[in-house]
Amino acid sequence: MKKYYITTPIYYVNDSPHIGHAYTTIATDIVSRWKKLQGFDVFFLTGTDEHGAKIVQSAQAKGKTPKELCDETSQYFKEAWDLLNIDYSGFIRTTDEKHEKTVQLITQKLYDKQLIYKKKYEGLYCVHCEKFLSEKDLDETGCCPDHKKPPITHCEENYFFKLSIFNEKLIDMIENPQNPNHIEVLPETRRNEILGKLRLGLEDISISRANLQWGIPLPFDTTQTVYVWVDALINYISAIGYSDDKNTFEKYWPADVHLMAKDILWFHSVIWPAILMGADIPVQKSVYSHGFFTINGEKMSKTIGNVITPKELVEKFGVDASRYLAVSLIPFGPDGDISIQALSHKYNIDLANNLGNLISRTNKMAEKYFEGKIPTYDGEDTLTKNVAEILENGYGQAIEGMQFHKAAEIFQQAITLINQQIENDAPWKLAKTDTIKLAQCMFAYFQSTALIAIYITPFMPTLAKKIWALAGATGDFESISKKYFADKLIPKDGFCPIGNKLGNFEIMFPRIETEKK
Ligand code: MSP
Repeated sequence: MKKYYITTPIYYVNDSPHIGHAYTTIATDIVSRWKKLQGFDVFFLTGTDEHGAKIVQSAQAKGKTPKELCDETSQYFKEAWDLLNIDYSGFIRTTDEKHEKTVQLITQKLYDKQLIYKKKYEGLYCVHCEKFLSEKDLDETGCCPDHKKPPITHCEENYFFKLSIFNEKLIDMIENPQNPNHIEVLPETRRNEILGKLRLGLEDISISRANLQWGIPLPFDTTQTVYVWVDALINYISAIGYSDDKNTFEKYWPADVHLMAKDILWFHSVIWPAILMGADIPVQKSVYSHGFFTINGEKMSKTIGNVITPKELVEKFGVDASRYLAVSLIPFGPDGDISIQALSHKYNIDLANNLGNLISRTNKMAEKYFEGKIPTYDGEDTLTKNVAEILENGYGQAIEGMQFHKAAEIFQQAITLINQQIENDAPWKLAKTDTIKLAQCMFAYFQSTALIAIYITPFMPTLAKKIWALAGATGDFESISKKYFADKLIPKDGFCPIGNKLGNFEIMFPRIETEKK
């Protein structure tokens, strides 16, 4: 069985989960579920980033110890992912013992290989980014451009990692697909930005802190703790057993894709592979960064009061629709703007009007004309073939290429095709004139809707099963779906056996009133 290892960033515990974190995590879950359907043995990792100055400051402000804050917030993340039906395989916390051990093993290895040295350093540091900035990184007011806060001056003797010696290697690895250690940095525009920056040259980086106790002690000098970003990146190998489960580690590493937003692409495409190379570990295969979104044109922030939480999303749209909407409203890659209004609008068009309407009208007709059962039928079902053709063309590639809005578009085309076919057939007229043709048409509607259920599973895992039952399809949904993807053959007698009773009808996507704010 082929393996697939996909990761989200590990989220800082100074903030509670919001739609930004959910965006990346839902996307990762969709790819992971899709790959599982394609027969891959998938490991999907997420977790929380719990060390560093930012966490200490935030805990102090809340009158808690860092550990208390970490325990509380990492639990909130787990609850949010449960709520959104995120089927992760591992949840790593950087305060986990196996993680701390791995960080010490790796830093010791780098030290033994003389890739780490001590140096006095003075520089500007943004605690919110947890990174050093140079004068030219600051905005016109002398603040960090991302956080609009002035950096602090950081002056101490630290350990440095010889990042600069990896400069040429990294350029070739990212640029040259023939390089056996090629890292695909996507999308292309961002890869070019990374390459541009790499061509300006790399400086060595400080990888420890002398005056920060909330961190992992360096094994060769326990008076210093490991820099939070070095600590955090190592999660991708500690979680799959680098220090305690060699078999699992060897099975899944290297990661197939690290997913994140553009803010942290540099750490993942430059610093992380350099650490891996330094420690003689193969590098990851690819890194995909998506854009940042604003809410109603503004940066999401507690002060503005426009933060959308997973709970609010789910209360408004339900779990499965939230998953679908979050990743399909704007293209995954560039920056974009979202709002509850825009999400509601898409909900009504795609889900209430198109998919919801298909299910409710076919169920009502089955009830009216065939006692809620799949009618007896023999003949050619070209509708399902046409629906299959639409879905087989580009839907899977769109998911694997992180183009979720594109996958959703293809999916909507397939549903529209069935709805149009119903209009053309006019079953309500056939009921009076040609009941044999009526049965044939109805059978095709259910068959094609069952196929729709198979394809929508990664986006809407729970409703997909309901749609399957409402289409009168039977058998183990998961294994039938996997079999379908393995041979792309619709079973000879269809998914929906003749005479089978349809599942109990319920309105899946009630329309949402959208009023202008
Ligand atoms: N702890 C680091 C990551 C370490 S990974 C080894 C970190 N954490 S974070 O909590 O700030 O999460 C950043 C990530 O959250 C982004 O890369 C992105 O995946 C997601 N997003 C947070 N806000 C977002 C938006 N407004 N828009 C899109 N994604 C957002 O950085």
